[in-house]
Amino acid sequence: MRLEKLSLFNFKNYEEAQLSFQGDIQCFLGNNGSGKTNLLDAIYYLSFTKSALSTSDIQNIRLTQGQFFIKGTFTKNDRVSEVLCSFQQGQKKIIRENDLDYGKVAEHIGKYPVVMVAPQDIELIWDGSEVRRKFFDSLISQLDRTYLDYLITYSGYLKQRNSALRFFAEKGRVDHDLLESYDEKLIPAADYIHHRRKEFVREFLPRLVQHYRFLSGDAQEEVAVTYRSDLTAMNWRDALKKNLSRDLALQRTTTGIHRDDFLFYLNGNELKRFGSQGQQKSFLIGLKLAEFESITIAKSLKPLLLLDDIFDKLDDLRINKLMQLVAHDTFGQIFITDARPARTREIITGAGLRPGIFMVAEGQITR
Ligand SMILES: Nc1ncnc2c1ncn2[C@@H]1O[C@H](COP(=O)(O)OP(=O)(O)OP(=O)(O)O)[C@@H](O)[C@H]1O
Ligand SMILES: [Mg+2]
Repeated sequence: MRLEKLSLFNFKNYEEAQLSFQGDIQCFLGNNGSGKTNLLDAIYYLSFTKSALSTSDIQNIRLTQGQFFIKGTFTKNDRVSEVLCSFQQGQKKIIRENDLDYGKVAEHIGKYPVVMVAPQDIELIWDGSEVRRKFFDSLISQLDRTYLDYLITYSGYLKQRNSALRFFAEKGRVDHDLLESYDEKLIPAADYIHHRRKEFVREFLPRLVQHYRFLSGDAQEEVAVTYRSDLTAMNWRDALKKNLSRDLALQRTTTGIHRDDFLFYLNGNELKRFGSQGQQKSFLIGLKLAEFESITIAKSLKPLLLLDDIFDKLDDLRINKLMQLVAHDTFGQIFITDARPARTREIITGAGLRPGIFMVAEGQITR
């Protein structure tokens, strides 16, 4: 899949911008705060119908303005299509493909896949289990619709079960039939999610290991991901019964797949504590490249690869390895940002790639 053209109107710090992409790799270069990441974010938006950074759409509208739009022209299996995303304050956002509105915005997700590697990925290593579950859930959901349905079922009934527990604790009386009716919905959903997460980590890990090994120049560094879940060691149906008094005392469901975690290791030690910054960054790049591969295989379609500030913290060896990887046709169309233009030009031409160079300064782009 390729993005041929991108137009922006009042998106973040851009009043108006029009870009068209030729060459092997697109580079957005310029000083800090000039708007490089905002361009990647606009492309991300076309895929996910939301920003990778701001949580509210109002923040995506250029200050003092009332509406933004992003338009992208894609070619996919030799067919050209146009995606439009637009948002006006106080109104529902509009997502259109070839001038047609979607019934549900969710129908658009996954049609124009994008994988982004960005500095904020570090939270996958540093933060709590929730961000890691979110990463794997979003990835598995893109590949398996049933998984997404079960996730929605699980989180809905878990919420109801927890509010019932709070209610029972307040009233000092337990409606066992009601709890059982929730459990009957939760158990099959948890079984499916648990099984799928376990299976996914098994097929995903060799991809991550392979990419990490390549990036690190096989420096005897071995990475691993372990899936940890309450459901591994226990029969959850029995556990729900056994733990009822504890659940009532704490007024929440104390076991289940909502507590699952994915643990990251480097040479058998916790990556968060024992990995250097460069090793952690390499791990995250390996993770995203493995994500890229999983999507490519499942959809027979290469996502766009967005690399934000990718060269920082990597040594020359790892940068060279990364360029060897992306120079290979495997990764399709690539967009890259860097605040040091000379470095990027040198790296890209050194790798024998033909770059499309865009110089960015205060929301203005020159080729
Ligand atoms: N809604 C908005 N309206 C106007 N400006 C905005 C809006 N949202 C973000 N900006 C501005 O866009 C600018 C550029 O942000 P961006 O993250 O793209 O910079 P960058 O070129 O990637 O910089 P760096 O090299 O530091 O990563 C920021 O200074 C920010 O204040
Ligand atoms: Mg940036």
